[in-house]
Amino acid sequence: MLVLGIETSCDDTAAAVVAYKNRVLSSVVSSQSVHQLYGGVVPEIASRQHVRLIVPAVRTALEKAGVSLDQIDALAVTMGPGLIGSLLVGLCFAKAVSFVTGKPFIGVNHVEAHLFSVLAETDELRFPFVGLCVSGGHTELMYVREFGDYQLLGSTVDDAAGEAVDKVAKMLGLGFPGGPELEALARQGDSTRVTFPRARLKRKGYDMSFSGLKTAVKYFIQGQSSPLSDALRADVAACFQKAVVDALVEKLVEACRAKDAKQAVLAGGVACNTVLREETERACASIGVRLLVPSSALCSDNAVMVAIAGGRRLSAGQRSSLDLPACSTLEELLEIEVA
Ligand code: KG4
Ligand code: ZN
Repeated sequence: MLVLGIETSCDDTAAAVVAYKNRVLSSVVSSQSVHQLYGGVVPEIASRQHVRLIVPAVRTALEKAGVSLDQIDALAVTMGPGLIGSLLVGLCFAKAVSFVTGKPFIGVNHVEAHLFSVLAETDELRFPFVGLCVSGGHTELMYVREFGDYQLLGSTVDDAAGEAVDKVAKMLGLGFPGGPELEALARQGDSTRVTFPRARLKRKGYDMSFSGLKTAVKYFIQGQSSPLSDALRADVAACFQKAVVDALVEKLVEACRAKDAKQAVLAGGVACNTVLREETERACASIGVRLLVPSSALCSDNAVMVAIAGGRRLSAGQRSSLDLPACSTLEELLEIEVA
């Protein structure tokens, strides 16, 4: 089964062709660099860019795969969570193609797609597992009993981890998105020089918070009598990165213990971070949990993961109808899936 995947939930216009289950024939990601001017994603601009980029992205994905639209068996498209205007571009595009060609399409949960992106590279994923999806828009800890059977254990109560990374990167004078530059700067710093707070939420459970940490960095920078030296900038980057990594690793480990999980998956754009990957690997190994992390290209937003997750649903006979809505939040989307 040849699946055309489409992803437009945030600021990347992505299309991919995957021969189900996991043979990737092409993957195109058109990143919208225009947001760099604003230091963050501007939703309306993102939607307009998707409108301009969606046809070329799909055309290029088909060309690179060496197939025509006629040869595609089905479409898989992100239906949420994400920016509503952005989601609608991909979803309406997929519906239009489905309507005109008569080919089936399936709406895909973006977080589910991130968690199952590992299937492009391994067939060793076993249920149940604990999944942590960390990106610019998501910080979700899920217990995955089976494909399609999820318990949302916790999420951020304020900023997503990647959002906090991008904001602190901006404070340190770095470009957008800030993750890769912040990681490079942190590599030169001392992660023990400043102790930033780890959010200890009063509520028991797996929720996380990154806004207080971000504000602590802001006050630290403002509290200096002179602009930060290069060395101190690197130290701040390293200490902030450590605080984010500690919080994520702690929650993942807690969840694995409570659920007695044998496997865990780390995914999403922030999972490109080497320190996070290493620390999570080390912590999981220490409690006997096998950690699966996709390669970096599959961690950030892409349409391969959408085609893989969608392909799984399609092969089980699932189809979406033309009245499928786009959902901006995960809670909304999980309700629809249950109904
Ligand atoms: O999954 P993704 O491409 O898009 C969203 O769904 O948001 O994730 C992008 C996020 C951005 O916040 C970016 O700064 C962060 O992932 N990121 C990183 C790194 N590479 C990307 N954060 C920390 N370290 C990195 N190396
Ligand atoms: Zn994402």
